[in-house]
Amino acid sequence: MKAKISISKDRVISKIDDRLYGSFIEHLGRAVYTGIYEPGHETADDMGFRKDVLEVVKSMNVPLVRYPGGNFVSGYHWEDGIGPKEKRPKKLDLAWSTIETNEVGIDEFQEWAKRVGCEVMMAVNLGTRGAEDAKNLVEYCNLNTDTYYANLRKQNGFEEPFAIRTWCLGNEMDGPWQMGAKKPMEYARLAVETAKMMKWVDPSIEVVACGSSGPFMPTFGEWEKTVLQEGYDQIDYISLHSYYGNPKENTPYFLGSSLIMDKFIENVVKICDEVKEEKKSEKTVNLSFDEWNVWFHSNEQDKKQERWQIAPPLLEDIYNVEDALVVGTLLITLLRHADRVKIGCLAQLVNVIAPVMTEKNGKVWLQTIFYPFFHTSVNGRGTALTTDVEVETYKAEELEAIPYVDAMTVLSEDESTLTLFAVNRSLTETADLDLELTGFEGYKPVRMEVLDGYDVKETNSAEDQHVASRAKEVGEKISLAPLSWNMVQFRKD
Ligand code: AHR
Repeated sequence: MKAKISISKDRVISKIDDRLYGSFIEHLGRAVYTGIYEPGHETADDMGFRKDVLEVVKSMNVPLVRYPGGNFVSGYHWEDGIGPKEKRPKKLDLAWSTIETNEVGIDEFQEWAKRVGCEVMMAVNLGTRGAEDAKNLVEYCNLNTDTYYANLRKQNGFEEPFAIRTWCLGNEMDGPWQMGAKKPMEYARLAVETAKMMKWVDPSIEVVACGSSGPFMPTFGEWEKTVLQEGYDQIDYISLHSYYGNPKENTPYFLGSSLIMDKFIENVVKICDEVKEEKKSEKTVNLSFDEWNVWFHSNEQDKKQERWQIAPPLLEDIYNVEDALVVGTLLITLLRHADRVKIGCLAQLVNVIAPVMTEKNGKVWLQTIFYPFFHTSVNGRGTALTTDVEVETYKAEELEAIPYVDAMTVLSEDESTLTLFAVNRSLTETADLDLELTGFEGYKPVRMEVLDGYDVKETNSAEDQHVASRAKEVGEKISLAPLSWNMVQFRKD
């Protein structure tokens, strides 16, 4: 099969916001406890963080991590997780039917983020709480005033403010599974008043309002419209969440999942721009795709978990090669929309639907989905360029025209490196690339990293991590193996 890829240096989509490569840690399952934090572990540092996990996360160059939920945040009292650990209460978490010990809270998490070198994206509880507690949390985190909450942070040993810039106004507030779920106008009013007060405390923050929990929701569309109409001036971003799965074992269809993501993004952009037009506003509300991934493998096993355990294994999907290819195409889709999607969070980061796994008291290991995320996050910074792909398409279920090859290119800030990310969805055929690079005279292919040659169902485990990317020799002729994830870099002589 032939695939013609055309790019031109002057066909710029947008500068990529680094936060597109964000991730997510929720107080859920073993993400925090025995994930990033395990005081008894042989690699634990002075605060109980696992250094083996820290090193892997650092290598991923994650710029921002959303915290502490997710569904968990909708019942969370942030004050339970600060101050002396022995005084912190154990509480029921109704989101996941577990017990939260509060050993880790905002103080510890922002310290972990500092050690990783990333920003915290903080979510506030708009399920069981509201504006009062949210604005107090902004004071606690970001102010240096001689006032109660700022002083409380200092008493807890943190003289300098945490300077948290990006804040989520609740989580999936239209979902019946959410503690304190809301009707569109109910949420809109609460979100707007909360954002207003949070920004009165610290005008430098940016806020993300909840979009509908997904395109499948009956509230989708109306929800976004109501929230934006009510809060256009206060809201900086609207959130999108989506998870993809292959429960029917239909690989060709599953590999087309990114077309569903693409449509979802386009629909939300359309709603944002309609409201902008209605309001005759100069401001553009952008998108925060702050939960996205493949999630379905662990659904059945999670139903068997007993209630009220501390940090039980939950949502521990074991990912295979086709999942990694889907994750690759989802990343390509986010890049294609870099003009409007400014924040993206791979949900999640450690143990819970995650690229990075840990054994309690044991090793850290990498899942198949680690590789596309790692390659794009480390190499996909700079400017996203329009990348036209002419290739055959196929049909699967309602997806009429899935291109066999999906690709995006990124030009580094200093223009020294052009990086192509590409997935070949064909089960059987190699794609021979015909590259038309306009404005890139003197650029030569110098590096190729691929995830190829595996059966789609192959997985890794703590004992066996044979699914991994490898360097492939690169020459003037570039081809993409069937069912492969590829990164090709071009540099100027
Ligand atoms: O990421 C897992 C869960 O998925 C989050 O808690 C929730 O926001 C979403 O439904």
